[in-house]
Amino acid sequence: MNNKKEFVEKLLKEMTLEEKIGQMVQYGKLNDEIKDKIRQGKVGSLLNVQGAKTVNELQKIAVNETRLGIPLLIGDDVIHGYRTTFPIPLAESCSWDLDLIQKSASIAAKEAKSCGVNWIFAPMVDIARDPRWGRIAEGAGEDHYLGAEIAKARVKGFQTLENEYPLTASCPKHYVGYGAVIGGRDYNNVDMSENYLKTYYLPPFIAAYEVGALTTMCSFNDLFAVPLSVNKKVLRGILREELNFNGLVVSDWESVEESIYHRVSKDRKEAALKGLLASCDIDMHSGVYDDNLKQVVEEHPELIELIDEAVYRILSVKYDLGLFENPYVDEELHKQVILHPEHRKHALEVAKRSIVLLENKNGILPLKDTNQTIALIGPYANDQENHLGCWSCKGAKEDVISIYQALATNLKKTKILVESACDINGQNLDLDKAIETAKHCDIIILALGEPRYYSGENNNRMNLNLPGFQEKLVEEIVKLNKPVIALIASGRPLTIGNISEKVDALVWTWHLGIEAGNAIYEVLFGLTNPSGKLTVTFPKHIGQIPLYYNHKSTGRPNFPRYIDGDDKPLYPFGYGLSYSHFYYSNLKLKKEVISKEEVLEFTIDVTNNGPYAGEEIVQVYFQDHFASVTLPVKQLCAFTKVYLEPLETKTVHFTISPNQFGLYNENNEFVIEPGTFTLYVGSNSVKVISHDFSIKE
Ligand code: NOJ
Repeated sequence: MNNKKEFVEKLLKEMTLEEKIGQMVQYGKLNDEIKDKIRQGKVGSLLNVQGAKTVNELQKIAVNETRLGIPLLIGDDVIHGYRTTFPIPLAESCSWDLDLIQKSASIAAKEAKSCGVNWIFAPMVDIARDPRWGRIAEGAGEDHYLGAEIAKARVKGFQTLENEYPLTASCPKHYVGYGAVIGGRDYNNVDMSENYLKTYYLPPFIAAYEVGALTTMCSFNDLFAVPLSVNKKVLRGILREELNFNGLVVSDWESVEESIYHRVSKDRKEAALKGLLASCDIDMHSGVYDDNLKQVVEEHPELIELIDEAVYRILSVKYDLGLFENPYVDEELHKQVILHPEHRKHALEVAKRSIVLLENKNGILPLKDTNQTIALIGPYANDQENHLGCWSCKGAKEDVISIYQALATNLKKTKILVESACDINGQNLDLDKAIETAKHCDIIILALGEPRYYSGENNNRMNLNLPGFQEKLVEEIVKLNKPVIALIASGRPLTIGNISEKVDALVWTWHLGIEAGNAIYEVLFGLTNPSGKLTVTFPKHIGQIPLYYNHKSTGRPNFPRYIDGDDKPLYPFGYGLSYSHFYYSNLKLKKEVISKEEVLEFTIDVTNNGPYAGEEIVQVYFQDHFASVTLPVKQLCAFTKVYLEPLETKTVHFTISPNQFGLYNENNEFVIEPGTFTLYVGSNSVKVISHDFSIKE
């Protein structure tokens, strides 16, 4: 650490103003002009650079052809795998499996690093409560406690140490409030109180910084009426001063410049000034720092201090990554690393645990491989590309195992008939063909969903139904009165009308990555007992949005909220079935009254009533009966996974820090208020058993 301080301070002293500003400049489209700028020490980082060889060439320019030889940061959006594509982050969050999630991030970093990437623009830790927003796919759902745990796992994974250095620097994004864009319209404004910000939206960021995230990215939106990249209160104030984050802040793509379109900066120079004042260290791609910061500092010489602080942070990250020792990558390494069989194996592990079983009437699943005929019908029946999901980095469709491929390869006795019936967006439905195929089978599997390009950045939707004519396809198919299993792939919750009532089984597969087909096969045929639980509420109707389990208490709690329907979700947060039935009993608290310094300890018995061995995600929620401010009706505060053989009972032990029961008061200070609380333990946010406890003065 001291070495770092000494090293960076010494380097800083040698730097000219131009060289310092150069470190604060990042470009995203490589060409000869940019290479010249690197040569002149006018660029400190890049994004969208392809391959180890190119990266080495660029590092050579930075190291050998500039006066001070400062290596480059090379960033990339490695959202759910580099080439080995894992489930989209929202899907993966449904595994609630922190070890698996950390491992995915670690593998992604390893593959990315072998291709020269040393900075990963992930994890996205934005809380998202509006499924119309396309970027809900990139996060961990609606809950900030789970979001914080997953944020930590992902940061640790991306920053896995190898030869004493982190493989890559992680970049939790988008600081902050981006998931609350009004109407789910990407890039839109955000309007929330500081209390909401601190209660719901900040915790995953705080958690990510606590485990050592080296950088963070600020968001496109405004908050408290100022765009984030130039927001002094939220960046310099909350992030730096309150949260003590001393890592590097990078803007989002051209977002410093975009303060002009938000109409808070009158020109590029003012945007640059405001970005610097706010402590946005690197300007991504817009060139406003490159073009204006020199003049800004000449006009306000006292601002050199802020430049020095920013450059100190940037050089520190380069130091932490070991780039001053060795900025190069072995150009052959990627051949051994990319799509390594162990990586594929992990992709399957995590994909099967991301699947959520939503309906299983009369235990129709799991299926057996017998002398039967299955009709596999729908746009996802034999599709490869769309399982890659949004932001699939270097993911390639030829790496993906489709559902049909997996069934055809693995089933020995079952005959499979396959028919896509319509395009991936549900258009050009050939109903006659689909029905003809379905008539000749014993069981129908409908492979439905939304295309991958329906989610991700600015891929927002105003309808959340199954695109095109897929609902019509379901309606007609169920008329045949044969067993129907629906698989739905998506990047978000969808409103699926009454499909859940019509079909015998409903399996939510999300976009599962390259092992999608195998994971689905394993779940359908019982090689894997499904254990995924929703990390986001599924609304019945689009008009209910935003609908989330941890909403605050209100007056008139029992009044109906809608004239034309109820305000209950189709599936609540935490919901997901197994082929087994888990029974909860004996919730026992060690002490029913604790002090503010004591942990809450309790045990609960979980029994697998059979008939299959399986994993259960045990969820713990609480409610604070009365407080000085309004609070969520229920709040997740712990969870764990237990594996149980049929008829086995395990006693699960929990220890919860009193901080979990704290709140932000009217002055937005974090406090633990004494009083009575109810603890809820169960298999989802609704099905719980409870016990009261209190916290004394
Ligand atoms: C814009 C996106 O909002 C951000 O998530 C991403 O990292 C940057 N572009 C760079 O591609």
